[in-house]
Amino acid sequence: MTSIEPIFGAGILSGLKQFVSATKLHPILVNFTAALVPVSVASDFLGRFLKSEPLRHTAWWTLFYATAMTPFTAITGWLFWMPDDNGVTGMTIHKWLGTGLAVVLCVLFAWRWKLLRQGRWATISYLVLGAVFVAALAYQGHLGGEQVFSGM
Ligand code: HEM
Repeated sequence: MTSIEPIFGAGILSGLKQFVSATKLHPILVNFTAALVPVSVASDFLGRFLKSEPLRHTAWWTLFYATAMTPFTAITGWLFWMPDDNGVTGMTIHKWLGTGLAVVLCVLFAWRWKLLRQGRWATISYLVLGAVFVAALAYQGHLGGEQVFSGM
């Protein structure tokens, strides 16, 4: 008797792919990552120099939600992959840069959490990493958008 597990597993994956493709979940979730991280870094930057507690709290909570959402952004990206994305250099970069960004965001979050526990303002080195992250995120969005809209 053949095991149904591989069939069941493949069924779940193809069901998820269909769901993500029908709901266009990746293009929806990217907006959360693309908005929340820059708002967080900008709030920490302004909060530090204006000595503003509300901005410091904004920075923490927006990063919190970005870190919670971004794994889903990356996973839905993998599930949204289409045959015409294969062999496109920009999309190969998009795939691995996006996966890397989801991991690096966890590092940024751990660092920011430590600063929160110590009751400190964002340090210059944290802000530099945050700025590099935002630049890479903008490039990531550009690559995705180019693939979607270049044929229009
Ligand atoms: C931080 C992570 C990511 C961000 C911010 C991001 C951003 C974007 C953006 C802005 C688009 C254009 C959406 C539109 O306007 O319709 C897009 C499309 C796309 N992304 Fe991502 N992405 C991320 C991760 C990934 C990952 C890890 C993959 C994995 C393979 C991926 C695969 C795709 C695919 C397949 C498309 C659609 C391309 C097409 O229509 O042919 N993305 N992404």
